[in-house]
Amino acid sequence: MTAGISDIEKAAGVLRGGGLVAIPTETVYGLGADAEDPAAIARIFRVKGRPPSHPLIVHIGGAEQLDEWVEDVPRAARLLAEHFWPGPLTLVLRRGPRVPLEATGGLETVAVRVPDHPVALALLSAFGGGVTAPSANRFGAVSPTTADHVRAELGDAVDFVLDGGPCEVGVESTIVDVTGDAPSILRPGGVTREDLEAVLGCPLAVPSTSRVRVPGRHPSHYAPRARVVLVEPEKVVSEAEPAQELGHRVGVLLPAAFAGAEVKAHAVVTVPDSMAAYARGLYGFLRELDRQGCDLIVASLPVEEGLGLAIANRLRRAAGPRPTA
Ligand code: TXA
Ligand code: MG
Repeated sequence: MTAGISDIEKAAGVLRGGGLVAIPTETVYGLGADAEDPAAIARIFRVKGRPPSHPLIVHIGGAEQLDEWVEDVPRAARLLAEHFWPGPLTLVLRRGPRVPLEATGGLETVAVRVPDHPVALALLSAFGGGVTAPSANRFGAVSPTTADHVRAELGDAVDFVLDGGPCEVGVESTIVDVTGDAPSILRPGGVTREDLEAVLGCPLAVPSTSRVRVPGRHPSHYAPRARVVLVEPEKVVSEAEPAQELGHRVGVLLPAAFAGAEVKAHAVVTVPDSMAAYARGLYGFLRELDRQGCDLIVASLPVEEGLGLAIANRLRRAAGPRPTA
């Protein structure tokens, strides 16, 4: 059930009391705390099992509040905020005195965004301050895109869960660093590189998009329990079948182009042809394959344009080397 006014008021009270509230956004659910309360922020890190040096995003209620939180806003940042807020874009700017160092992992910069979700915006308005929120999952795991995902993963560690229904975008916000000479993308996400470039009128640097396959070069993140192996789209079926025969419980993310193909595997999810639908479903698909007990997921990368860039980034990170300890 989607949260009503009394839920919003209750959630704002929990934040004022130093508690943690799971909040729906258009991207993924966040684990929110009062952005100006270092003790509540410390609790976020404990609940997530996240190293305190990993900075958080401060969510605010509107672009007009930006100057209350940051300093030295360059023209490019104003332009991007004007075009994409509320929306799945996070801007990294110079930290203002209102932002405690606990929220930024000790950095003098801070990540800020205005989420495009009626429940999140109602909460920000009722609360009045900023809400700092990482994705509401344990560190390194798959982000939650429904309130049930949050309850299943964090349970009683959250004081209150605001249910805003399933997230529309499904992958996290695009993070753009606007503190340097030229804006650069730190994390691809819900706002596409092409849309950002059209507004800025210049090309944007993006993190490495090398085609290197398994094992990924990135440490694992956004990862299901099952190991993830990435292969060329036409090799997904031929990679899955022998592994299944060898005794693995193989989950397959079957590219849309191969829909209807016979696959000998433990579980098969055919991914949608539309990148928007794929992004919306991605984390749910990974969770579903885990739920079905898969120990190996075979997938391929979509074409890295539009939302495909963010999907490919998350799949690469999911396939990255796991900590051995
Ligand atoms: O869509 C989203 O962005 C979601 C929803 C809840 O808003 N939030 C989210 O938060 O994905 P989290 O904590 O899972 O990811 C935040 C990312 C981290 O990779 C962090 O390193 C980066 O933002 N970040 C935060 N502050 C930064 C800063 N000052 N400089 C560079 N990166 C920063
Ligand atoms: Mg996260």
